[in-house]
Amino acid sequence: MVKRKKPRWTVPVGVELTEMDKKILYYQERGCLVPTRNLIKTPEQIEGIRRSGVINTGVLDLIAKEIRAGMSTLEIDRLVYDYTLSHGAIPAPLNYEGFPKSVCTSINEVVCHGIPNEFDVLEEGDIINVDVSTILDGYYSDASRMFVIGETTPEKQRLVDVARECLQIGMDVAKPYCFVGDIGNAIEKHAKKNGFSVVRDLCGHGVGLAFHEEPEVAHFGRKGTGMLLVPGMVFTIEPMINMGTWEVFVDEDDEWTVVTEDELPSAQWEHTFVMTENGVEVLTY
Ligand code: MF3
Ligand code: CO
Repeated sequence: MVKRKKPRWTVPVGVELTEMDKKILYYQERGCLVPTRNLIKTPEQIEGIRRSGVINTGVLDLIAKEIRAGMSTLEIDRLVYDYTLSHGAIPAPLNYEGFPKSVCTSINEVVCHGIPNEFDVLEEGDIINVDVSTILDGYYSDASRMFVIGETTPEKQRLVDVARECLQIGMDVAKPYCFVGDIGNAIEKHAKKNGFSVVRDLCGHGVGLAFHEEPEVAHFGRKGTGMLLVPGMVFTIEPMINMGTWEVFVDEDDEWTVVTEDELPSAQWEHTFVMTENGVEVLTY
């Protein structure tokens, strides 16, 4: 059996402990999951991720302006690809673990990782998540929004709104030296209070120098569990909220598209954050 070691916070011999070292070591001694030093970004790295985030936000603003009934998800993909390249950046999804397009487009019962194609044409009443991720000078940013095509049903609109509230509540709870589980716990409570469920198979994640880094940011769970979040860490919160069951399956043909088990709608919002001394700062506004 392979024993997985918990990440450890180490301080070089002879170096004086900072306040941050002391706090992290305090939690580590109590058996908590703490970050490794490489998860703390330098100010220069944070600036790089911020610049990447500016382009990422530009893409989403362009989609917000252009999206409409009658448009195919392939047209969304073209807009993302052209805008990103013309700003000197690369769409992170393109060829990522074999993903064939530049953006994820997930309509109605599709939870995430929908692949743009010419046959999925947006109709009045659809709700769609457009998940954009950008690489600029090696720095990654990641954010997604929901778009409602025309007017939808009150129930689907409420799902979209509650999913957005879940992201906001996660942001509000995310303070330095809190745990990932504190965020997930608050999100899960809000979703459940509104009669919705939280997807458990997919999580937020560290991001910045790679597309997906530690820690895993679950959108459910118990307070005080998961990794300790400290200033300088960069990560996403991206709750996927379902109208019905939390259970999902992956399309067997394309091996990407994640769909709700009961085929009821799902909604998701995402931002990339840096943890500061006061709370999270959004890098993808
Ligand atoms: N953008 C997704 C996320 O929020 C990841 C998509 S992976 C892809 O983490 F390959 F489907 F693009
Ligand atoms: Co993400």
